[in-house]
Amino acid sequence: MLVAAARAASSKCLLAHPARAAPGLRRCISAASSPAKLDPAPTSIYIHWPYCEAKCTYCSFNKYHIPVNGQDHDRMLKCIEIDLAHALRTDPSQLYSHLGEAVGQVRQESRSLPWDEQGSKPEAAAEDLPSRSKPHIRSIYFGGGTPSLMLPSTVESICEMISQSCSVDPHVEISLEANPTSMSLDKLSAFKQAGVNRLSLGLQSLNDQDLAFFGRDHSAADGLRSAEMAMRIFDNVSLDMIWGRPGQTVDEWRKELQIIASMNSAHMSLYQLQVERGTPLHKWVAQKQVAEYDSDVLADFYEATRETAAQCGFQQYEVSSFYNTRFAPPRKSRHNTAYWEGHEYIGVGPGAHGRRHSWKSPERYRTFCVQSPNAWMKQCESHGHGVRRITRISEEDAMKEIVVFGLRTYEGVSCDTFERFSKGVPLHQFLDGEALDHFIELGLIMWSQDGRKLRPTARGLAVIDHIVADMI
Ligand SMILES: C[S@@+](CC[C@H](N)C(=O)[O-])C[C@H]1O[C@@H](n2cnc3c(N)ncnc32)[C@H](O)[C@@H]1O
Ligand code: SF4
Repeated sequence: MLVAAARAASSKCLLAHPARAAPGLRRCISAASSPAKLDPAPTSIYIHWPYCEAKCTYCSFNKYHIPVNGQDHDRMLKCIEIDLAHALRTDPSQLYSHLGEAVGQVRQESRSLPWDEQGSKPEAAAEDLPSRSKPHIRSIYFGGGTPSLMLPSTVESICEMISQSCSVDPHVEISLEANPTSMSLDKLSAFKQAGVNRLSLGLQSLNDQDLAFFGRDHSAADGLRSAEMAMRIFDNVSLDMIWGRPGQTVDEWRKELQIIASMNSAHMSLYQLQVERGTPLHKWVAQKQVAEYDSDVLADFYEATRETAAQCGFQQYEVSSFYNTRFAPPRKSRHNTAYWEGHEYIGVGPGAHGRRHSWKSPERYRTFCVQSPNAWMKQCESHGHGVRRITRISEEDAMKEIVVFGLRTYEGVSCDTFERFSKGVPLHQFLDGEALDHFIELGLIMWSQDGRKLRPTARGLAVIDHIVADMI
């Protein structure tokens, strides 16, 4: 997995030079170079910070206004530590038999966990991990909400806890999502000191009217300034933009994208605007106050995105993801690649999801944390974890997931990866043969020369969700 992306921690990589590394990272390195036996299956960790200064009109993520009394950083940190410690020390099959498929809050009569009985603070100490070597952590992602509203000391404590409890890859990618309004040079430096080595910055648009329509609390100029600032501190910065916005023309988008691309960040995530249920945007579209583009116009936007990004030196490697070809090695998102390739990830924090692999059997599970920050914190404090629901991933679902995510990337689905999930059933046998042949004939997908990878073509990537639906 993650061949080139694994080195995304940069050629000027602090990690490659421990002597120059920031304190949080130094701890990760020393943990990585400890003699602990490495778990061959890499794991990622997702930590959700749920608060935002303003709620954007298109956003359906699990986010909440900052409480009137401010964010309770100490309590949040304590609960993240509880939730993470539990995930690191508990086999998901054990949690499954404990919670079953129950939906909703964990029942009060649920069994309390060992540290409750002992009355001690939960620690995910290595010696506590039963029948398993330390998890091997390849990426950590602070997502939100707005994680740039966290205290850098919170991020540092979490990185420290992970480095003590896990075997951390020397090239670990530690990403943090940031909003232009909640960052300063000092704060970014402090995040870097804490261990963060990749910053994902949400710009969304360079049009002030669109930013106001989206409910963003920054101007285009603020966005550009914050991107410059981020790139002074981090050499792995990803810029997020949204295209297909109401009233936007393809030409305007090309110009906007040229400006963003000329900033020469390591990576860009260029998303088509999604009208998500439960958002103000969805209501406006339903009430016909806002018109959506039809699929032909969106196809033009998509083509303009690919063309402009390529002209500016960015290579697409997934439907919405582009790396800068001037950076060696390329800074593909290691964390997202882990999602796409079906690897395990632990999800911690309000509303976080996880994909867990049992240590004892080939079973896989999906975990869902309690959504509201207050209810999640209460449950962490009373039950020793924040998971509200855990479901088993059937073999068929696991195989479908590998195909769906794999075909959204230029790498495509590898037969080797697929067969790890299919108990040897070959990929071509799993897919609908007629549909497969049809899409190959249309030039939308193709087999690699050695026949071990099924890949979308550039044209295929534009319509990949429709293609996949017909094949599985
Ligand atoms: C978890 S969000 C938030 C990151 C950060 N709080 C921010 O707003 O800049 C990550 C990215 O998802 C994208 N996104 C969120 N909702 C979207 C939607 N409805 N359509 C397209 N992109 C969306 C945005 O580009 C955003 O930067
Ligand atoms: S700031 Fe980010 S997470 Fe918060 S509402 Fe806006 S897009 Fe969503």
